[in-house]
Amino acid sequence: MKVQKHTTLDPELFMIYERLTTDSPIISEVTSRINKPGMKILDVGGASGIILNAIINKSRYKIDATILDMFKVYKQQLVNKQIRYIVGSILNNKLKAKSYDFVILRDVLHHLIAGGISEIQKHQEKAIKEMVRLTKKGGYIIFEEEINNSKLSSRIQYFLSSIANKIHFGSLSFWIGKVIVSFMSKKEIENVLKKQTGGIRVVKRRFIKCNFPFLWRSIFLMNKFQRAFYIIQKIS
Ligand SMILES: C[S@@+](CC[C@H](N)C(=O)[O-])C[C@H]1O[C@@H](n2cnc3c(N)ncnc32)[C@H](O)[C@@H]1O
Repeated sequence: MKVQKHTTLDPELFMIYERLTTDSPIISEVTSRINKPGMKILDVGGASGIILNAIINKSRYKIDATILDMFKVYKQQLVNKQIRYIVGSILNNKLKAKSYDFVILRDVLHHLIAGGISEIQKHQEKAIKEMVRLTKKGGYIIFEEEINNSKLSSRIQYFLSSIANKIHFGSLSFWIGKVIVSFMSKKEIENVLKKQTGGIRVVKRRFIKCNFPFLWRSIFLMNKFQRAFYIIQKIS
């Protein structure tokens, strides 16, 4: 497997994104399931901890919270010092299997860029598999991810973002520049989940059409964009 490059990611941009999108169904779905003190949560790609902090603040119980993410800069910017921060990748981690009651992730899978499309797909599959591996029996994998159900537009977005990355073309107003993206489709996620035979049960899946401005929606690149939300229970 090719190694994911840091040069396709932009922690400064991600921290802006985190602060603009503080609301997530992950927060209430996790807090409503926390039923004793000391439950362990891992936020994969949790950046500076906006989502985990919201869970900590909302929960009646004390939580053992950890972020696994690629950049040291987030550790200095952590919004809550109770959060343990591990610098590393979900694709290559040494965390013990069945360690967490909840493994959560928001908007990370489309950033697992390395090599071409088939390598990226392998990375996306590995990340989901790892989330399942790290979850305790009876625990939950809860994730929210932007998806694109048009293969063609997804490939075009990957191609355009790769070019922008190569020529260092950047514009924050269009959210492009350094970051390369390759979105999964609903079908791809479902196929990965089917492969985890026996050990998991999908408790909830929801697909919400993205609220892009009219101009963005009217161009076909954004037509089949959705936010996917999954709650999966590890049953063995
Ligand atoms: C769009 S940001 C989302 C940040 C946060 N999860 C949120 O929703 O606000 C993507 C995050 O994924 C992280 N990331 C990318 N590849 C990763 C990997 N292989 N392992 C862990 N985190 C990764 C990035 O560093 C970044 O913090």
